[in-house]
Amino acid sequence: MVSQQEIERQAAIACSLRETLAGKKALVRTFGCQQNEADGERIAGALLSCGYTLTETLSEADLVILNTCAVREHAEQRVLGVIGSMKKEKERRPSMLIGMCGCMAQEAHRRQQLKASYPFVDFLFGTDMHHRVPEIVANALGSRGQKHYVSDLPHDEFGELSEGTPVQRSSSYRALVTIMYGCNNFCSYCIVPYVRGRERSRSSDAVLQEVRELTESGYRDIMLLGQNVNSYRGELSFPQLLERAAQMDGDYWLRFMTSHPKDASEELISVMAGNDRIARHFHLPFQSGNDRILHRMNRRYTREQYIEKALKIKAALPDAALTSDVIVGFPTETEAEFLETVELVKQVEFDMLFTFLYSPRTGTKAAEMEGQIPHEEQVRRFTYLSDVQNEIAQKRNDAYLGKTLRVLSDGEDASGTPVGRSTQNKIVTFDRPVPAGQFCEVKIDTAKQYALAGTII
Ligand code: SAH
Ligand code: SF4
Ligand code: F3S
Repeated sequence: MVSQQEIERQAAIACSLRETLAGKKALVRTFGCQQNEADGERIAGALLSCGYTLTETLSEADLVILNTCAVREHAEQRVLGVIGSMKKEKERRPSMLIGMCGCMAQEAHRRQQLKASYPFVDFLFGTDMHHRVPEIVANALGSRGQKHYVSDLPHDEFGELSEGTPVQRSSSYRALVTIMYGCNNFCSYCIVPYVRGRERSRSSDAVLQEVRELTESGYRDIMLLGQNVNSYRGELSFPQLLERAAQMDGDYWLRFMTSHPKDASEELISVMAGNDRIARHFHLPFQSGNDRILHRMNRRYTREQYIEKALKIKAALPDAALTSDVIVGFPTETEAEFLETVELVKQVEFDMLFTFLYSPRTGTKAAEMEGQIPHEEQVRRFTYLSDVQNEIAQKRNDAYLGKTLRVLSDGEDASGTPVGRSTQNKIVTFDRPVPAGQFCEVKIDTAKQYALAGTII
């Protein structure tokens, strides 16, 4: 735990920068998952405390921070493309500062690459350094030359937890609350345990206090976040924490992400079933429908165990949406093994499936495995599975026709159509504008694969 003294030292540095930075603008661009989004909100909070105002426009930003994701090659290439494109902006305005943080910053080979090929980047900091943003900015203003702030400890030691730093939330009605950092599961394909360190949980009191403050200030949709929330280890267990968090005053939904199939417990399902403030949405990634591949992925459950759990959730929460993640083309996956994945998808019938092409990540076990599957074959499996899932998604959504759903409005979409999300996290469009952040009741009359539409009642 970062000491209170250190938090105060950073606050004092932020305070000392305010005069210098008055009128200066900062842009924070986040890639990747909700955990990274939540980190981005803390970075934005720290920058505001230093005197910056926030902007979305690159050409007026005096400081740009790229909060990066390393989960797949594609994510990294996108970030490198964005950094590359900033070189010109930096030449045009040499006083502008550029920083990089997040999961890519935690990878040794990316740090070397940044030093060698992107020397115009001023600083880089790791995933456990958010509390030090004021100091990092002060140093960048004070002297030139790329600086790196990354825990150099072995991976089983890195990862500090801090409380009491400012947060600038990007929405006034949907909130992300990180309850734990890191991951201990070491799925063989996944970079997250290497770039986020070991699991560490915030205290239950701190989480509940944050949820209370959010409900008191009118937040309507609060998501508790962790790479594997079921291994939350605070004073309370995760199901207990969820139950308590659902008992505040106010009209709100509580969600969580993500649950690992080996740990999602009966207790969790029954807490959800017993409290309709807890959103009717269960995201339970299965990754593969074949036991040999699951074993090689180090997932520690079998196909049968997964199916049993998924069907139990569907039976206990009949009005809930069940969604999942799956990887196609894991090293050595045969056609027959892939078809077992397809069969699982047909049997369980997910509302939504996030399908990923396996992407080798430097440093993970799977990247060293023989039998990497060619890209074209991965794409073929991806397309095949997507076609199967699209039909299932349509069937699942057809079941909502004629039903009335409670929807939290998000205002209007890009084309001006009123839109929001239901407790199942389904996108719902409707006929009349409702201010963003207000609940409404929508009678569903149209079902598409990935959205529902209806009229306000
Ligand atoms: N902790 C969460 C999410 C991890 S990352 C969980 O365990 O569910 C989100 C998803 O990205 C994973 O569920 C997985 O399907 C996918 N993913 C992770 N590493 C990947 C890789 N190397 N290649 C392709 N997809 C990957
Ligand atoms: Fe990655 Fe597995 Fe941890 Fe999820 S549980 S973050 S997939 S190692
Ligand atoms: Fe990406 Fe890091 Fe999240 S690798 S998916 S931003 S934990």
